[in-house]
Amino acid sequence: MAEASPLYQTYMRAPLRFERGEGVWLTTETGERYLDFAAGIAVNSLGHAHPHLVEALKGQAEKLWHLSNLYDVPGQETLAKRLTEVTFADKVFFTNSGAEALECAIKTARRYQFTKGHPEKFHIITFEGAFHGRTLATIAAGGQEKYLEGFGPKTPGFDQVPFGDLDAVKAAITDATAGILIEPVQGEGGIRPATNEFMRALRTLCDEHDLLLILDEVQSGVGRTGKLFAHEWSGITPDIMAIAKGIGGGFPLGACLATDTAAYGMKAGTHGTTYGGNPLAMAVGNAVLDIILADGFLEHVRDVALVFRQGLAALKDRYPDVIEDIRGEGLMLGIKTRIPNTELVMAMRQEHLLAVSAGDNVIRLLPPLTTTAQEAREGLARIDRAAETLQIKSAKLAAQA
Ligand SMILES: Cc1ncc(COP(=O)(O)O)c(C=O)c1O
Repeated sequence: MAEASPLYQTYMRAPLRFERGEGVWLTTETGERYLDFAAGIAVNSLGHAHPHLVEALKGQAEKLWHLSNLYDVPGQETLAKRLTEVTFADKVFFTNSGAEALECAIKTARRYQFTKGHPEKFHIITFEGAFHGRTLATIAAGGQEKYLEGFGPKTPGFDQVPFGDLDAVKAAITDATAGILIEPVQGEGGIRPATNEFMRALRTLCDEHDLLLILDEVQSGVGRTGKLFAHEWSGITPDIMAIAKGIGGGFPLGACLATDTAAYGMKAGTHGTTYGGNPLAMAVGNAVLDIILADGFLEHVRDVALVFRQGLAALKDRYPDVIEDIRGEGLMLGIKTRIPNTELVMAMRQEHLLAVSAGDNVIRLLPPLTTTAQEAREGLARIDRAAETLQIKSAKLAAQA
């Protein structure tokens, strides 16, 4: 009998053991190569083992690994300054993960209302299909029963409404509301972009009711959609924004960004972290920005995204029994399938292509932002073969029925 794993069995892991990566490719222990369009679920924004990131991490590792936030931590001021220069934000708090960035965002919003004399305003309006992390507050914010079940009472203060339903948002605003929290493009919910009109309407509602608009750009941020942040497509700015994933390029790093006004209540002692803003993370985060902020980088993302969009649209036409719809923005792409999405994920894996399933029967393609047009075409050819296999299978089943 196989020996039982000493790990928590919280993941249905694929039977693949990767040993190393380079760019968009991953190599298994046995030397098989896979095209990685999952990228650690939008984490490896610059692919695997990017030389500039490796150099930054090694360079910092030889100097200083860790320093308490009781001191100035090398790289924090620089990274925060760079982030504030290119966004709406005036202030940044660094974390190790997306969920922690969201916790900071929620706390910042509550604290804002508290500091204004409204401790009763602690409710945040969130959206069906959302995913904000796995801490007790963020599972309550996400509101998904499958993540809440068995973990005791749901953390209070989150009021959920259907995604994109402005009337429902209006109806949910009460004297206890502190803010509205939304992913501009729902990731795990199935690559569902909010419309620009909806984002603008939320901004207006927040202004009218003195609510804070909180964006979760953990997955959609840092160049993923072809703009530095997804909300830029709608022309609005939030008051608070949580980021993670792409900013660390594979090193655990998140951040909560806020305007001076929103962050006003976050005084000394109100919040903290041991590892957040660690020198190694700062070195890598700064190195990621060197590349993403370089001239022409986001243009490259948009160009490659176009190659994907055109290729996927053609596959949708060719395999109507398998592919129902193509959605998303930039390199945050979703394939909605007519068959169970896991079947197409498996068929892609057979073709040595990695993708991630999501809600609403969607498959996520989240390739590294450095993916070339040629690599995109190579991936599309593999999706083509995978979809063809399933189309043939579904035709056979239909013939038997
Ligand atoms: C939109 C969004 N928010 C928050 C999180 C949570 O991030 P983490 O897993 O780093 O805590 C994720 C992770 O998938 C995410 O996609």
